[in-house]
Amino acid sequence: MTTEILNRTDRDIAHAAALLTAGELVAFGTETVYGLGADACNPRAVAGIFEAKGRPHFNPLICHYATADDAFADVQANAAAEQLAETFWPGPLTLVLPRRAGCRVAQLAGAGLETLAVRVPAHPVATRLLHAFGGPIAAPSANRSGGVSPTSAAHVLASLNGRIAAVIDSGPCRVGLESTIIDLSGPTPFLLRPGGVNFESLVAAIGPVQRGIPHARAAAGQSLRAPGLMVSHYAPKLPLRLDATRIAPDEALLAFGPPLPGAQLSFQLSESRNLNEAASRLFEGLHWLDENAGALTRIAAMPVPSHGLGLAINDRLSRAAAPRGS
Ligand code: TXA
Ligand code: MG
Repeated sequence: MTTEILNRTDRDIAHAAALLTAGELVAFGTETVYGLGADACNPRAVAGIFEAKGRPHFNPLICHYATADDAFADVQANAAAEQLAETFWPGPLTLVLPRRAGCRVAQLAGAGLETLAVRVPAHPVATRLLHAFGGPIAAPSANRSGGVSPTSAAHVLASLNGRIAAVIDSGPCRVGLESTIIDLSGPTPFLLRPGGVNFESLVAAIGPVQRGIPHARAAAGQSLRAPGLMVSHYAPKLPLRLDATRIAPDEALLAFGPPLPGAQLSFQLSESRNLNEAASRLFEGLHWLDENAGALTRIAAMPVPSHGLGLAINDRLSRAAAPRGS
């Protein structure tokens, strides 16, 4: 694929929005760093982000909105969230809040979690793109996994040229480092990642904010330096058995390709064994099997090859299958 380099004209922004609507990936400038955007409500487009970045885990993504009202239509705000939105949005602050029941954002964008990270960016290109597109845009930093976050269109091209449909040359990023992430979904606000809004200003706006490694997360042996890794990923309620080649009578099937015979209940990740499609349906599938299992006592997952997004799918499946409490 040839990556188009777009400019800040209305025509190019409209074209970028049309690419997003078509499920393509578009990198765009924000005041923090360039984001790699996809239609947050389209699971296949979101899966494309993980593939283009070569991200080894389905680390949850931040969803970008044009306004706070738009954001709070998908997540449940509380008093602290409203205060922070009022004070710092648009700007380099991301709020983690519970998803609303009617949340339109694909499960994969939030890595299957019950919370969602939302932010209203303050960069004219991001704002215009969000308005032109008319929905939430999921966007991690626009670099290959493990690389440095990009603050120019040239940085984006250096790592993603040929892997994404377009980059909008949005000029430099004012802040140049990622947004501050604060988790407001628990009893006390918790700083997940320091960033563009400093800690003192958060405290000035809403009072005490915890920092450091919270108990549950510390117990999981994970560090504050890698916020993505301290997130407890979605694990199904039912135990999960991997690499199933036969199905027992009490098992529900997570199918990949032609389903094993005999399953009473099955969820198809991808009939044609397309890894991008399978990734986009993985969290939906685990939720759906849990909800519909009835008297079945276990999920049997068919093997998925470990290339491309298959590596991330298998990482997630093996975490979900690991002994509980580990
Ligand atoms: O400034 C920024 O935040 C940039 C621009 C593009 O907006 N985005 C960015 O995204 O830095 P990314 O994917 O590189 O980092 C997002 C971080 C990840 O560490 C992820 O684990 C965390 O946000 N995150 C996302 N959703 C979360 C959730 N529901 N709970 C906890 N952490 C979450
Ligand atoms: Mg990043």
